[in-house]
Order: sequence, then structure tokens, then C-alpha cells
Amino acid sequence: MARKKIIAGNWKMNMTPSEAVELINTLKPLVVNDEVDVVFCVPAIDIIPAMEAAKGTNIHIGAENMYFEEKGAYTGEISPAMLVDAGVKYVIIGHSERREYFAETDETVNKKVLKAFEHGITPIVCCGETLTQREQGVTIDFVRQQIKIAFLNVTAEQAAAAVIAYEPIWAIGTGKVATTEQAEEVCKAIRECVGEIYDDATAAAVRIQYGGSVSASNAAELFAQADIDGGLVGGASLKPDFGKIVNYGK
Ligand code: 13P
Repeated sequence: MARKKIIAGNWKMNMTPSEAVELINTLKPLVVNDEVDVVFCVPAIDIIPAMEAAKGTNIHIGAENMYFEEKGAYTGEISPAMLVDAGVKYVIIGHSERREYFAETDETVNKKVLKAFEHGITPIVCCGETLTQREQGVTIDFVRQQIKIAFLNVTAEQAAAAVIAYEPIWAIGTGKVATTEQAEEVCKAIRECVGEIYDDATAAAVRIQYGGSVSASNAAELFAQADIDGGLVGGASLKPDFGKIVNYGK
């Protein structure tokens, strides 16, 4: 069965609650496309108003992060049950910015991935190399290790339903997009890695996004690659351009 494309915006630390509602109202007529899953991953405080603003549209509201404990004395964190209660179906896990600025590791990413599945939330599991790693030729080894640890103790059935976002760190917010060959090479390697951990059916089912300076002008070419099932979009997800990315082939 062909994999349905999934195009997600990652708003990062942008948009106040009222700005979020305004942006969704602007974007909702532009992101209509039943052939792809459309997700807006928004700051935690925007989730409820965004959910309300997106009601009756094809937009799914997702979260940008989640903690791996059920509840308790973890000041400032958001629990999986809070996300579920708010109607959230997708959560970004282990974005490189969280790894860099908030000390997330492959191990905490794995805990969060397991917790998300336990609560029926689909994780968008992020991976990707630094420029130094790419220049040293260790990209594939590094990304494979990130994936292997992220999916420790995750069942094949869960992995098949997961979304993986390959985001080379040097391409994030830099306007320096990976070439389609570079992006496809790593996404293919990720799929092979999932196949080694599980089996061919799981590898064929998991959806793999590319992220890093995706724009209206490069989306169609990227998403046409055999192993690229959509994108995780930062900057361009805050603009009407996001409508063009969602409707990339048209
Ligand atoms: P940009 O699209 O702004 O490069 O950000 C990519 C990203 O980090 C999405 O998670």
C-alpha cells in the first residue's frame, strides 16, 4: 500500500495564542489537500485555541514536545495525558533544538517515544547530523544509531505507525537545503535500518519526512523521492507558502 504523505509544520517558539488563531484562519483555506496528512505542531499554550480554530478542517494539531513521565513534580513539563485530553494525535520528539538547548539525548528520546505510543500519540521522531559529521562522512552511521536507540523496545506495529523526520542540522533555518540526492540517500538508509530492526513490512510502512529549509520551491522535488514521505517544515510553515508546500504537486 502506498504511504500517505505527511506534511507537518513546526512552529517552534513562535505565535502567541491569539496569533495562532489568526494564522490558522489565514492558512486553513490554503492547506486543503485530502491526499496528504496536514499537521501543525504548535507551542503547548497554543494547542487548545489552535484545536478550536482548526475544528472542521483537515488540519491536525500536534505538539512540539512532551515529557516521558505520567504526572507529578516536573515543573514546566507537559504530560502525555494532557496532550491526549486536548485532542493531540502527533508529537515531535527529539528535535535537534531540544537536543542542543535542552539536553535531550537518544535515551530520553526513546523514553518519550515509548510513552507517546503508550498513550496512542504518533511520535514524529527527529534525527539528523551536524555539518562536521557530514564532512567526516559519518552521517549514515550517526543517524542509524539515533534510530536504533529511539526505537529500543518499540514494537513493530508501533514502529510501522511512527513518523521519522530526517533533519540535517546544517539545513535547519539556514536556507541551505540538502540536495534531493542527499536527502533521499539518508531517508533510504533510515528505512533500511527500520527493516533491519524489524522487517520489510515495517520498513515499507513507516513514514519518513525530510526537514531543513523546505520551501514552496523545493518541496515537490524532495517529496517525489522514493523514500521521502513528506516534510517537517519550520520557517515556511508560518507563512501562506505552507499552502503551496501542502499542495506541492499541483
Ligand atoms: P526550517 O524549515 O526553518 O529550516 O526548520 C526545519 C525544522 O527544524 C523543522 O522541524
